Amino acid sequence: MSTKTAVVTGGAGFVGSHISDALKNEDWTVIVLDNLSSGKESNLSDKIELEIFDITKDNVETIFRKIKPDKIFHTAAQISVNKSTKNPFYDAKQNIIGTIKVLDAIRIIGKGIEPFVFLSTGGAIYGNTDKFPVNENTYPNPESPYAISKFSAENYVQYYRRNYSLNTSIIRPANIYGPRQDPNGEAGVVAIFIKAMLLEKKVNIFGKGDNIRDYIHVKDIVKGCILASELSYKGPINLGTGKGTTVLELFNYLSKNCNYNSSPNFIKERPSDVKSITLDCSLAQKVLNWSPNIDLEEGLKNTIKWFENYSENFN
Ligand SMILES: NC(=O)c1ccc[n+]([C@@H]2O[C@H](COP(=O)([O-])OP(=O)(O)OC[C@H]3O[C@@H](n4cnc5c(N)ncnc54)[C@H](O)[C@@H]3O)[C@@H](O)[C@H]2O)c1
Repeated sequence: MSTKTAVVTGGAGFVGSHISDALKNEDWTVIVLDNLSSGKESNLSDKIELEIFDITKDNVETIFRKIKPDKIFHTAAQISVNKSTKNPFYDAKQNIIGTIKVLDAIRIIGKGIEPFVFLSTGGAIYGNTDKFPVNENTYPNPESPYAISKFSAENYVQYYRRNYSLNTSIIRPANIYGPRQDPNGEAGVVAIFIKAMLLEKKVNIFGKGDNIRDYIHVKDIVKGCILASELSYKGPINLGTGKGTTVLELFNYLSKNCNYNSSPNFIKERPSDVKSITLDCSLAQKVLNWSPNIDLEEGLKNTIKWFENYSENFN
C-alpha cells in the first residue's frame, strides 16, 4: 500500500491520464479531480480514483484537506484556441479562476501539500515570432484568449510562489500527441487527422498547410512533468523537440501510414492560430536532465496503432 498521494486535476483528460498512469506505476496513490467536461472516465486505469469535481465551483480547500496530497499536477483546463476566441469568459474562468482556486487552497492549508506543477503552453504562449526555436527568455506574446489565460495563470503561479513560498513548477509543452488524445476536440491535430483518415473522411487543413509545429509525444511530456515536481525550478520550462514539422508534412506522413489516399481540403486560416513555432529545450536538458526519447515517426506509428484499436469507439 502506497503512502504517498498525488492529485491530478484534469486527470481524466489526455495528458492528465498519462501523468496519473506514470505516478501509479511509481506506486503513488493517485486521485483525479475532473469535471469530465472533455475528459472521460474510460481514460482512467484501474486503481486511479476519480472525484467528479469542478475546480471553478467546488470547494478545493475541503477536498485537499480530505485527500492531504503530497503532490499536485494541475492539468485541468479549457484547451481549445478556437473555443477561447468564441467564449473568452468561459476560457478565463476555467484557466485563470480555476488555477487561482487551486493555488489559494494550497496557500490556506499551508506547506506540505505541494509540489505543484502547472501545465501551461509553449505552443501558444510565445505567439508569432520569426526566430525559433524559442527559449524561455523570449517574452510571451499571447495571440489568443487561450494563450492569454495560460500566461495569466502562470503569473498567478509565480505570485503565489514569491509571496507564499509555494513549491511550484511551470511547464510549457509544445504540441502534444499520443494515445487518448480527443479526436473530436478542436485541438490535437494528430488525433483529428488520424480519426478522419481511418474513417476515410475528408481532412481539413487551415491555410496552406505550411504552419510549423513542434510535435512531442505525451510520454516525454509526462517524464518532464514528474522530473519538474522533484525539482521546483522557479521559472517556466519548455518541453518540446526543437524540430519543426509542417501540417502538410504531418498529413503526408499520417496518410501513408493510415493507407489514406484522398487529398486534403484547404480551408480558411484561423487568425488566432500561431503561424509557426518550435521550442528550444536546452533549459529542460540543463535543469531537469530531460530530453525527448520518442522520435516523431515512431510516436506517430504507435499513436495510429492505438487509434486503430480504439476506432470502434469513434462517434
Ligand atoms: N494537448 C496539447 O497539445 C497541450 C499543449 C500544451 C499545453 N497543454 C496543457 O496541458 C493540459 C492538459 O491538456 P489536454 O490536452 O490533456 O486536455 P484535455 O481536455 O484532454 O484535459 C483537460 C481535462 O481537464 C478537465 N477539466 C476542464 N475544466 C475543468 C474544471 N473546471 N474542473 C475540473 N476538471 C476540468 C477536463 O474534463 C479534461 O479531463 C492543459 O492545461 C493544456 O492547456 C496541452
